[in-house]
Amino acid sequence: MTQSWTNGYVADIAYIEGFYVQQSPARMALACLFGNVAVDLPAADDTACYLELGCGIGLGALLTAASNPSWQVTAVDYNPAHIAIGTRLARAARIDNINFLEADITNLAASPEGRSIPQADFVTMHGLWSWVSPEVRAGIVRLLATKTRPGCMVHLSYNALPAWQGGLGMQRLIYEAGIRSGGRSDAQAQAGLSLARDLKAVDAKYLTESSLTRDLLDSTAGMSTEYLSHEYMSAHWSPAFHADVVAAMADAKLEWVSSCNPMENFPELMLTAEQRAVMDRYKDPILRELIKDICLPRQLRHDVFVRGPRRIANDERDAALRQLTVVPIVSADELQTKLRVPAGMAEVSGAMKDMMVAALRGPATIGDLLSLGGDRSNPAELVSMLVGSYQGQIAMRTNGTQPDSANRLNRVLGARVNSIVDAKTSGGLASSRLGTGLTAPPLLQFIAARLLDGEREDNAEAWIKALSADVIPEKHDTVRKVVNTAIEQRLPIMRQLGIVPE
Ligand SMILES: C[S@@+](CC[C@H](N)C(=O)[O-])C[C@H]1O[C@@H](n2cnc3c(N)ncnc32)[C@H](O)[C@@H]1O
Repeated sequence: MTQSWTNGYVADIAYIEGFYVQQSPARMALACLFGNVAVDLPAADDTACYLELGCGIGLGALLTAASNPSWQVTAVDYNPAHIAIGTRLARAARIDNINFLEADITNLAASPEGRSIPQADFVTMHGLWSWVSPEVRAGIVRLLATKTRPGCMVHLSYNALPAWQGGLGMQRLIYEAGIRSGGRSDAQAQAGLSLARDLKAVDAKYLTESSLTRDLLDSTAGMSTEYLSHEYMSAHWSPAFHADVVAAMADAKLEWVSSCNPMENFPELMLTAEQRAVMDRYKDPILRELIKDICLPRQLRHDVFVRGPRRIANDERDAALRQLTVVPIVSADELQTKLRVPAGMAEVSGAMKDMMVAALRGPATIGDLLSLGGDRSNPAELVSMLVGSYQGQIAMRTNGTQPDSANRLNRVLGARVNSIVDAKTSGGLASSRLGTGLTAPPLLQFIAARLLDGEREDNAEAWIKALSADVIPEKHDTVRKVVNTAIEQRLPIMRQLGIVPE
């Protein structure tokens, strides 16, 4: 069934629930520092406004609201099914500082609802820009022009070119075959994918010559149908060059600052020495980004823009980086020193390894960690290694207890988990110290909710029984192992963050 209000985007099946740390204010602030732009993060109980466009069911916005009760969060999506799910969660957890707004962004800026949206300090759009029509993109820019305060940080993710160029034919094939097959969008995506797989099997040139299509078509077999339909069945699917996105954002007075993925700001981790030598012939940051995008497969870009960035020199930037507190999000015995970096694998050793070991013992400032390593290392490199490898996260607040709103949301999220089989999708738990979510699959949400309800981990056998209800008996030992590992490795992290009581 085609709905007139969709403007070519998928709306007959809800999108997956997910939390993406790149949407967090602390991560946007880090990107600013990497781009030599000063940041002014709100202090502990300051007010701030956070706006998410194309929020889906709004998990990220909910985690932000619950973690920062003095902030005002607005989450916009035009799909009423998404807004209904988000609103229900907000009501159940009594999160009253979030406004879920069902609205089409195309003409939102000039509408009464648009005018009532407060000017934002942080804006985020994940998975929107390169999936919607040029008219919607123009509407986004108009909204950003009026809803961003001076100094506002904007996170924008999009499918990027040229990394996606080898996949253009594949998406078009999936889309055209899909719409002709009829039915709901998930069935359409499967029909399109099935044709693509058949053609790949008979060596169709544009499905086999790039590793992108070869790998993607193999990996789609295990992906959720909701994700696949939203990813491939949009009539306006159009990956973008970074330079074009930068030009579009300029109309909203937004300047590109850097990538929200820390390691992508280090040419040493992105390019070979020879590639760097070529790039270093140029000073223009946009051209340098294009050179990186030409050298590396960066399919999904996470960029940060600022309205009126105050540019700072390296010493001021390094001083600000030193003051940041990094909180471990993996346990000390999980330390990874062989890291996947954009250019391949890198092995961390010597002083850098010692600092990473220390960082996983508990929250520490970057300055303190550097002093352990003789202060010779670059603060940006240390933050990149810790945060970019998903072993640490930047703290928004260094102390203080979890607000009731965060506890309430975490209980509501965890109470929905009835089986280990649910534990497939990614999610999060609200954390005031992080000012956002801690990435947490449903199993951790379940454990957090039980502990917040006053149970102790010595109740694990009862948890295992509850989570195994629809698991065959031969697999119960696997469930036990998974639950016990979560208790050993993740519980100390959740305790340290104050997500669950000591
Ligand atoms: C790929 S989903 C991403 C959802 C969410 N940001 C996430 O990452 O989980 C894109 C979202 O944009 C919404 N959307 C698409 N076009 C829109 C429009 N014109 N106005 C408002 N929302 C729109 C869709 O309903 C969908 O929820």
